[in-house]
Amino acid sequence: MSVLVTGIGELTTNDDDLGTVSDAAIVLDGNRIAWVGPASAAPDADGRVDVEGRAVLPGWVDSHTHLVFAGDRTAEFAARMAGEPYTAGGIAVTVAATRAATDDELSAVLRRHVTEALAQGTTYLETKTGYGLTVADEVRSARLAGEWADEVTFLGAHLVPLGWTAESYMDLVCGQMLDAVEPYVRWVDVFCETGAFDEEQSRAVLTAAAARGLGLRVHGNQLGPGPGVRIAVELGAASVDHCTHLTPSDVDALAGSDTVATLLPACDLSTRQPLPDARALLDAGATVALASNCNPGSSYTSSMAFCVATAVLQMRMSVAEAVRAATWGGARALRRETGDGAVGVLRPGARADLHVLDAPSTTHLAYRPGVPLTHAVWQAGARVR
Ligand code: NIG
Repeated sequence: MSVLVTGIGELTTNDDDLGTVSDAAIVLDGNRIAWVGPASAAPDADGRVDVEGRAVLPGWVDSHTHLVFAGDRTAEFAARMAGEPYTAGGIAVTVAATRAATDDELSAVLRRHVTEALAQGTTYLETKTGYGLTVADEVRSARLAGEWADEVTFLGAHLVPLGWTAESYMDLVCGQMLDAVEPYVRWVDVFCETGAFDEEQSRAVLTAAAARGLGLRVHGNQLGPGPGVRIAVELGAASVDHCTHLTPSDVDALAGSDTVATLLPACDLSTRQPLPDARALLDAGATVALASNCNPGSSYTSSMAFCVATAVLQMRMSVAEAVRAATWGGARALRRETGDGAVGVLRPGARADLHVLDAPSTTHLAYRPGVPLTHAVWQAGARVR
C-alpha cells in the first residue's frame, strides 16, 4: 500500500541532491520511501494525506540514551540545583535499583520512555546497558534493551561496582561479561573519565570489543578534559559522546576523523556543565550529532526538540545544523545513514520515518522552544501518531 503525503510546506531531506524542498510531496511504499520531490511532479499512490503546509523532516535519531534502569534520582537532581556538583557516583544508586527490579519492571520503563520519545518524533533510538554491572544483570539489560531499542550498546564499563577492584572488574568486563553480552549488542562503550575508567582501562575495553568485531563508542570529555576523544579517534570509534571539555587538539582530531562528536546539551544543562563548543567543531569540519542522553541521573529528558532548541539558542548552531545533527548526525553516529533502509534521511529507499511539525518550518523548533510541535509521525511506514 503506497501513500502520497502532500501539502508539505518545507521538506528537510538531508539528501545532498534533494536538499530542502518547498511545496513538496513524498510517496511511502510499505516501510520505505518510494519518491520525494516537488508536489507538482508527484506520482499517484493508493492513498493520500494532505499535511496542509506543515514542515516535514526525518524522524529524530536519538543515538545516546540509557533506558534500562529502575528507581528515581529526583533528590540528587534537587541537590544539584541547590549547588551540589554532579559526580559519576550517582550511577551506583541506579545500579542498586536496577538489580532489584524484575524483568517486567525494566521492560515497563523501556516501553514508557521509547513510547514517550516516539510521540515526540524519535523514530530510531539507541540505548545502553550499564546499570547492571554483573554478568547476569548486564545480559538481562542487553536482552531487554533489544526488545525496545533499534540499537543496543554494552556499557559494562560504566563504573567499577562496589566490592570490586578496578583490576578485577576490568578482567570481568573484557572477558566473561563481553562473552555473555556479545549476542545481544552491536556496540561497546566505555565511560572514560576521572572517577570512572582511565585511558589504559578504556583502551583495554575498546580493544577487546574491536577484536570481536563490535562497533566502538566512547563517553569522553564530559566532566573535564581527558583522553576520551583522543582514544576514540585513534581506535576508530563511530562516536565520542559528551565532548563538553575539548582542547583545540581534540577538535582537530575529530575534524580529521570519521568519529562523530555527539553532543548532549540536556545533560550539560542538568549537570551544570558548560555547553560544548559546537561552533568550533562545525567550523573545523567535524561531524556533529545531537542526542538526548535520556537517563535518570544526568539528563532525564527524551526531548530531541529541546536539544535542538538549546543547540540553536545557546550553542550557536543554525537551525539547519541542529536539525541535521539530531537526524542525519545521529544516524551517522550509528552508521545507519546510507543504503537501503537508511535513517535520518528522506530519499527513495530510506526507511519511511517522517516527522510532521505543527509549524510551517523547522525554524519554529527554536523560535517556539518548549512548545510541543509534533503533529504526526510515521515510523517505518506506519503512522504512529
Ligand atoms: O552519559 N556519563 C556517564 N553516564 C551517564 C550518566 C548516568 C547517570 O548519572 O546515571 C551519562 O551522562
